Amino acid sequence: MAEQERRPADEAVEGLAPATLAVRAGEPASLVEGATQVPIVYSAAYGYADVESWLDVALGRRPGHIYSRNTNPTVHAFEEKVRILEGAEAATSFSSGMAAISNTLFALLSPGDRVVSVKDTYGGTNVLFAGFLPRLGIAVELCETGDHERLEAAIAQGCTLVYLETPTNPTLKVLDIARLARAAHAAGATVVADNTFATPINQQPLALGADLVLHSATKFLGGHADALGGVLCGAPELVAKAYHYREITGASLDPMAAYLLLRGMKTLDLRIHRQNESALRIARWLQEQPAVAAVFYPGLETHPLHEVASRQMRGFGGVLSFLLRGGFPAVARVLPRLRLAHRAANLGAVETVAGPPATTSHVECTAEEREAMGIPEGLIRYSVGIEDAGDLMRDLEQALAEA
Ligand SMILES: Cc1ncc(COP(=O)(O)O)c(C=O)c1O
Repeated sequence: MAEQERRPADEAVEGLAPATLAVRAGEPASLVEGATQVPIVYSAAYGYADVESWLDVALGRRPGHIYSRNTNPTVHAFEEKVRILEGAEAATSFSSGMAAISNTLFALLSPGDRVVSVKDTYGGTNVLFAGFLPRLGIAVELCETGDHERLEAAIAQGCTLVYLETPTNPTLKVLDIARLARAAHAAGATVVADNTFATPINQQPLALGADLVLHSATKFLGGHADALGGVLCGAPELVAKAYHYREITGASLDPMAAYLLLRGMKTLDLRIHRQNESALRIARWLQEQPAVAAVFYPGLETHPLHEVASRQMRGFGGVLSFLLRGGFPAVARVLPRLRLAHRAANLGAVETVAGPPATTSHVECTAEEREAMGIPEGLIRYSVGIEDAGDLMRDLEQALAEA
């Protein structure tokens, strides 16, 4: 977290493209014994020969580490890589995406505050909005996702925090970050954006006006479905509050997970470009399949907010969803026939992953609640991996024959 550590890191990567940043940014210059990779530092605490230098680090006068629940060298390198890719001034990390979201909300909100967000945020986030925050006396208004006029009106009524997620999980709706950030700032509210689906390669919410951007690093950032993690970047005074909350409540990122996420992130730019390209091809192809009633993907010209997505995103991401005419029974027939997709509650991996909202993003909700949120039971969320797009379409074709 120490400010002194950041500036040389920023200078070292100035003017470099995202593909280079993904590989180089955040990697410390002096590594143990000249190792070319960031070491996994498994030490609970850090020793000091004298009390003066110990105090300097403890009081933030000098960079360094005291105790790994607070900061750790491997974890710090991961935070730095994401911070630089998001174009942020500060970053901190968490043990999962939900830890990033809950710690940020609990750190920034107090009884009497009011949050404005949308109906189809990630299921876990929605549970925080529906139960955990109201229980603490924090009011939450959830607007129809994509209804920007309604969102602006709700924000103008007064609120402390505006929480955005775009594109949304699992129906790939899009929110205009710049427009909603303007409305939020006019009302004196802080803007938090979940950038998990887009990644900084496709979209940089801070440049669009958000105050904070967060991720489930478990997904595209790590990219290999082997480590859980969360990260928050943005304005230093806000990040410091979430850092302090996490430091005390203890949902810190494990050094091994940080190492896996760092390693995964080296190929972030490569993976995202491949996934953007394949997802668009597959979305267009799915639109022509007789068993498919609708395809949800911001890259399609038919997407209601395609114009907004084109303005704020450099690519449209690796996740799409499609609705089967045969409803949930068709989903149950098609999914087991997919040979090139894991049927799992995950996304953003190098392998293609498919699943219905009922067992993935919205497992916490009843079928009726999902319908009310505009998430039909015949939906399949399809997270495109880095396999050959032709192979994936042939696999979908043979599975859809059973729909
Ligand atoms: C958009 C989004 N945000 C947050 C999360 C939660 O992340 P995690 O599972 O790492 O806690 C998810 C998980 O699927 C997600 O899709």
